[in-house]
Amino acid sequence: RRTHTADHYRMHMREADVEIVKGLTSRVRTYEGTFPGPTIRARSGREVVIRQTNDLDVPTAVHLHGGHVLSEHDGLPMDTIAPGDSRLYRYPNTQRASSLWYHDHAHHLEAENVFKGLHGQYLLTDREERRLPLPRGRYDVPLVIRDARVESDGTLKYTRPSDCPNMLVNGKERPYFQVAARKYRLRLYNACANRYFRLRLADGSEFTQIGSDGGLLAEPVRQTELTMLGGERIDVVVDFSRYPVGSSVVLENTGALPTERPEVLRFDVVREARDRSRVPDRLSELPPMPNGTVEREFVLQTFPEMTINGVTYDPNRADVVTTVGSSEVWTIRNIESAVAPPDFHVWHSFHTHLVMFRVLERNGGPVGPTDVGLKDTVTLGPGEEVKIAMTWGEYAGEYLFHCHQLGHSSGGQMGRIDVR
Ligand code: C2O
Ligand code: CU
Repeated sequence: RRTHTADHYRMHMREADVEIVKGLTSRVRTYEGTFPGPTIRARSGREVVIRQTNDLDVPTAVHLHGGHVLSEHDGLPMDTIAPGDSRLYRYPNTQRASSLWYHDHAHHLEAENVFKGLHGQYLLTDREERRLPLPRGRYDVPLVIRDARVESDGTLKYTRPSDCPNMLVNGKERPYFQVAARKYRLRLYNACANRYFRLRLADGSEFTQIGSDGGLLAEPVRQTELTMLGGERIDVVVDFSRYPVGSSVVLENTGALPTERPEVLRFDVVREARDRSRVPDRLSELPPMPNGTVEREFVLQTFPEMTINGVTYDPNRADVVTTVGSSEVWTIRNIESAVAPPDFHVWHSFHTHLVMFRVLERNGGPVGPTDVGLKDTVTLGPGEEVKIAMTWGEYAGEYLFHCHQLGHSSGGQMGRIDVR
């Protein structure tokens, strides 16, 4: 029996003029004219159907990052929407509450398309999450952090990260946020095409991590610093009641280049507020740890080309063939090839479509502070190795795994996985 429990949206991808840096007009590629794209709010168990029309002059493919969707709705690199065309994407939302996002994935173009503005938030909620006394409504805020290069005439120029001096939050440079002296849930996104951050509050104070890519953690974790690579999401609760009204505290990136300002976002505490929210000791029940029997290994390299296991992406070659329900352990290594320049150090962020995984080990030892919970993207510093475990499902079809440094995936650091 079909029930009509879907939310329908129409979105247009088009160019728009926005103010990123105060006083300048920048032409960006947008969903619906806004930068970043509109926030979609969805409920677990209720389908979302979006008709996307491409009014840009480049091909696009819309991917729901972290979404469990059929392959034909996944926005695969070759499955593009030509300029002038439109198509329907269906998101069944049969997964737990999580901070997802949607962004472009057209082959070879994703890095530039995302950099030029094709990304937006998709917040999925469920009954379990709504029952918790966490900050909600206007106190539950996505903060989409990314770099940019805005020229003095306003042009948003796609270039390498070391030439991107502007740090943006929700599409604005030098942002500030007027907060009440109470707890906020902040959903941090690293939406950079090519960048990692090391985020902390400038006064060094603790905050509470409550979620990661795949939704709530089992229990909250106290953190003082978060390392995040492109694609990752971390949900935190920050209690601004510890700061006097009239004062400010800055979120800073200690991973900033020496040429950059470390300041990402300034919180101005402007008023007192009643606060009945709290972070319970127990947040959620995670699905059981996959106990994998199938093992696979992946090596990510930058020289002489952007490769995984020595090859660049070929849409006609299945790099991994697996089956629905297969429980696997993947070892992923960031080992540069012998032809790389000496002292060449690069970060990778390994992402899988369709599944959430758990990080089992980092460099043969315990996992890092931000490897907790259900993940779909994991960071690999220079020379690092991680082991992750996942169970493939719940759909059969063609999917992807790739580096989420989008300059790398655009260059071919991506593989095809066929789930049968
Ligand atoms: Cu966020 Cu295949 O990507
Ligand atoms: Cu990479």
